Amino acid sequence: MAALAGAVAVIDQVAALNINRREHKLEKKENPVVWETVEETVYVYGNAPATGSRPAGGDKVADVVVNPTPPKNEVHPVQKDQAPAPIKPATTKPATSKPATPPGTGSTGVSSKRPGFSGKRGLAYNDPRLANLVGSSCKSGACGWATNWGQSEVGLSPNRAFIPMLWGKGPHNGNNDFFDSWHSNARKAVANGAKALLSFNEPDNKGQANMSPAEAAKHHVEYMNPYAGQTLIGSPSITNSNLQGEGLDWLKSWVQECKSQHCEYHYCATHWYDHASAINTLFEHIKQVHDICDGKPVWLTEFAPIEATTAQTEEFLSQAIPKLESIDHLDAYAYFMVGSGANQLLSSDSALSPIGNKYVSL
Ligand code: BGC
Repeated sequence: MAALAGAVAVIDQVAALNINRREHKLEKKENPVVWETVEETVYVYGNAPATGSRPAGGDKVADVVVNPTPPKNEVHPVQKDQAPAPIKPATTKPATSKPATPPGTGSTGVSSKRPGFSGKRGLAYNDPRLANLVGSSCKSGACGWATNWGQSEVGLSPNRAFIPMLWGKGPHNGNNDFFDSWHSNARKAVANGAKALLSFNEPDNKGQANMSPAEAAKHHVEYMNPYAGQTLIGSPSITNSNLQGEGLDWLKSWVQECKSQHCEYHYCATHWYDHASAINTLFEHIKQVHDICDGKPVWLTEFAPIEATTAQTEEFLSQAIPKLESIDHLDAYAYFMVGSGANQLLSSDSALSPIGNKYVSL
């Protein structure tokens, strides 16, 4: 009987760990037509199932083409009612002796491995008008760059360095094939002085670019390597999922694959979502990415606390931003995101939210 009860408990646990949810809800609003994508991704940390959801997705306005995506049930464990992820102890590993700016990754002619933005704070946007509003409110020089998960900037002020992203294979958000358009957009961007290029968006996540490390390395060689002599090239942007085959685990395999497939990349990109109380894991995660990438600089291209109130998010930013500014091996970071959804940087199309005001003034 005890054995049977034990077996049932194990099955329950496995089932709990495998409850996955990633939702894409589209809400059509009137005049102008606004599509809102709401995503929820919940990760499991270590052996403990933990909640974690990415905040509501960005507004899609005017020139952003969005196709309705049917709700999906994809591979991300969710345990809404479970206790928050335990804060992992800060790593005791001593800092590596590798230089923050490592030697080149091949035949690159880029003179510096750092992007040289006016400031490393970035704007992750869908609507360039909102990005320009946040950017113009930003403390002098602090907001140096911007990205929109896309290949061209469509109306972004030249005061921010636009960083194009390859994203991955289509279809996604109305784009059937990102590979088709990439070389022409990347060539243009590089000719216009793009300071860097971003590669795939969350290839370790089935709801995003969804690729194996080997496949991502192969496509990286084809689509990113040609620009390595002209600008800085990023690794794919990974999640901070602790599931096997995702997050850091995926990145380790990709770095290995890249050794044999000869990918060129100068920095590694990552995302981070967790409870505000797990703030230490943000810095730990950045350090782990830096180490896995053989001492290359890191870009934190999306981050936000999850399930946080406005006040908690403000407090989180007050603690995180000075630290992110001071980490020498971190070259760029961008809060998720410029938009007027919950916990985003604006409260309307014309005003910053309290969180936005924090982000621009710290
Ligand atoms: C998606 C983008 C989207 C952004 C903001 C990202 O995860 O890959 O397509 O624009 O979220 O919603």
